[in-house]
Amino acid sequence: MCFKRLFQTLMFACALLVLASSVLAAPIVVKFSHVVAEDTPKGQMAAKLKELCDQRMADKVLLEVYPSSQLFNDDKVLSAMALGDVQLAAPALSKFEKYTKKLQLFDLPFLFKDMASVDKFQQSDKGQELLKSIEGKGYIGLGYLHNGLKQLSANKPLTVPADAKGLKFRIMTSDVLAAQFEAVDAMPLKKPFSEVFTLLQTKAIDGQENTWSNMYSQKMYEVQDDITETNHGLLDYMLVTSSEFWNGLPEDIRVELKKCIDDAVAYGNKVSAEKATSDKQKIIDSGRCKVVELTPEDRAKWVEVMQPVWKQFEGDIGKEYIDAAVAANN
Ligand code: LMR
Repeated sequence: MCFKRLFQTLMFACALLVLASSVLAAPIVVKFSHVVAEDTPKGQMAAKLKELCDQRMADKVLLEVYPSSQLFNDDKVLSAMALGDVQLAAPALSKFEKYTKKLQLFDLPFLFKDMASVDKFQQSDKGQELLKSIEGKGYIGLGYLHNGLKQLSANKPLTVPADAKGLKFRIMTSDVLAAQFEAVDAMPLKKPFSEVFTLLQTKAIDGQENTWSNMYSQKMYEVQDDITETNHGLLDYMLVTSSEFWNGLPEDIRVELKKCIDDAVAYGNKVSAEKATSDKQKIIDSGRCKVVELTPEDRAKWVEVMQPVWKQFEGDIGKEYIDAAVAANN
């Protein structure tokens, strides 16, 4: 082989090596799909996760965040994850019913006294067991994330349970939430989050239940006359990934990514606590919607009618989990 040919072959081989190494070193793309606005606890948690991944592991992981149902609705995201079309999501705990009945615990009305009790339960052995309840179905629970306690909105104050009679309420895809509204003779309708504003605006439904941050960021207060502060239920999330994706990650990347997720969740939980106060205040300040407070006597009436729902789901959930959650109420 003449010198020129040898030189060309060597150059070609080098070019191939450079190309191959750059392909091999390309960061792993992690798509995080969620349904809420960016300025919400989950939206802020996702943004923080992106910031941490960019700071700490930019050469290894490229996190792409898709908010506001841009990529998937919550009823599609888990099947898309199984197909490898998305790697991270954080659906409400209410939306896992197809995969496990145990997480229905978190939908039981008037179960938790406050968010400190929710934290205490979630960090307990029983709470951590529930985080694992979707394992074996192809998914891994990476952590809980808070949004907060839910309120009831409608075009009238809902002071006592009889005020809700006959009204149509949008709910998440949860049989517990359906039973909760049936207990007050209301009509529950399972609808995706992305449709709630329009359903309220067109009066296809009369009301809904959600947190202050979701009602504020989705402008629900502009199309509802009253929000009754019931704090009757919890809206929390599970950070979830597919076992195939997670177990297929190189060990060092998995450990580092999990640390970023834990730190982003801690940040998101701080945001949720702040927004429960500030978004409520912004709704009040808007003057578009009245915030109705309940007297302890009226709230007790809601508890009395809704709490029997617990018994109905005790078999599916497991009494030991309900007892542990109640015990977490300091
Ligand atoms: C809802 O559907 O109301 C919530 O789950 C939306 C969310 O992710 O906070």
